[in-house]
Amino acid sequence: MEVRDCPVLVTGGASGIGRQLVGRLSAEGAKLAVLDSDAAMLDRLGIDVPEAARFLCDVGDSSAAEAGVREAADRIGGIAILINNAAIARDALLVSVSPAGISTHGVADWDAVIRTNLSGPFYVARAAAGIMVKSRTRGLIVNMSSVTASGNQGQSAYAASKAGIESLTVTWARELANFGIRVAAVAPGFVDSGITARQMNESLKKMWVGRTPQRRLATAEEVVDGVMFVIRNDFFCGRVLRIDGGVAV
Ligand SMILES: NC(=O)c1ccc[n+]([C@@H]2O[C@H](COP(=O)([O-])OP(=O)(O)OC[C@H]3O[C@@H](n4cnc5c(N)ncnc54)[C@H](O)[C@@H]3O)[C@@H](O)[C@H]2O)c1
Repeated sequence: MEVRDCPVLVTGGASGIGRQLVGRLSAEGAKLAVLDSDAAMLDRLGIDVPEAARFLCDVGDSSAAEAGVREAADRIGGIAILINNAAIARDALLVSVSPAGISTHGVADWDAVIRTNLSGPFYVARAAAGIMVKSRTRGLIVNMSSVTASGNQGQSAYAASKAGIESLTVTWARELANFGIRVAAVAPGFVDSGITARQMNESLKKMWVGRTPQRRLATAEEVVDGVMFVIRNDFFCGRVLRIDGGVAV
């Protein structure tokens, strides 16, 4: 797909990898809209990339997601590309044992992650795909997964949400092909910015670097390169592009 003048909606585009992607897409002439739940980061995006339409929106709220997608489409002239990027992590073991006793994974943490990372992309995609079909747009949905989709200790909710999004990628690719809509996913390994940079301690980062043949974390730019490849390659469909340096999870 050609990016220039193309209406593109990015969720979670106010910071991290999404922010880098917005910068690249803007430089390449896309008509951009961003849905994000962080008002301060959206304001900052407005200073750095004023041409991007910004909407404060919690994608995990079905009506807010529906309204956000509709308003974004109205502002940028439809939606041809959706990047389902917004996500959170709340890492916890299923059971933890300490001198204080035994504790189990919090239900609130589980619910928050599944709501944002799995229900959110579903709410946004159903609204965006509906608009694409109605406007007879030959579009694209790119879901952001993770190397942890195959399972990762300490990440029950996050890993399950990413396995779910990979499954939705295949399902939607098959369902939406009849409408000329392509669906694919990008699964980064551990990236030196965003969620990993904030939540992973140094010893854990060192461990993952040690398990990576490339002996480093990915950069956000390398992940953006992957998304741009998926956008441009019209035969990449129903599959997950893994950009993880060969890490052994
Ligand atoms: N950073 C990594 O190491 C890494 C690795 C693999 C996959 N990923 C995936 O890449 C994507 C981007 O991750 P990141 O590291 O840039 O994260 P990040 O936390 O830096 O950015 C996520 C953005 O999503 C927004 N967001 C969070 N919850 C939201 C909600 N309910 N509604 C709307 N917006 C919401 C945040 O405000 C933020 O701007 C995610 O899907 C993540 O799972 C990241």
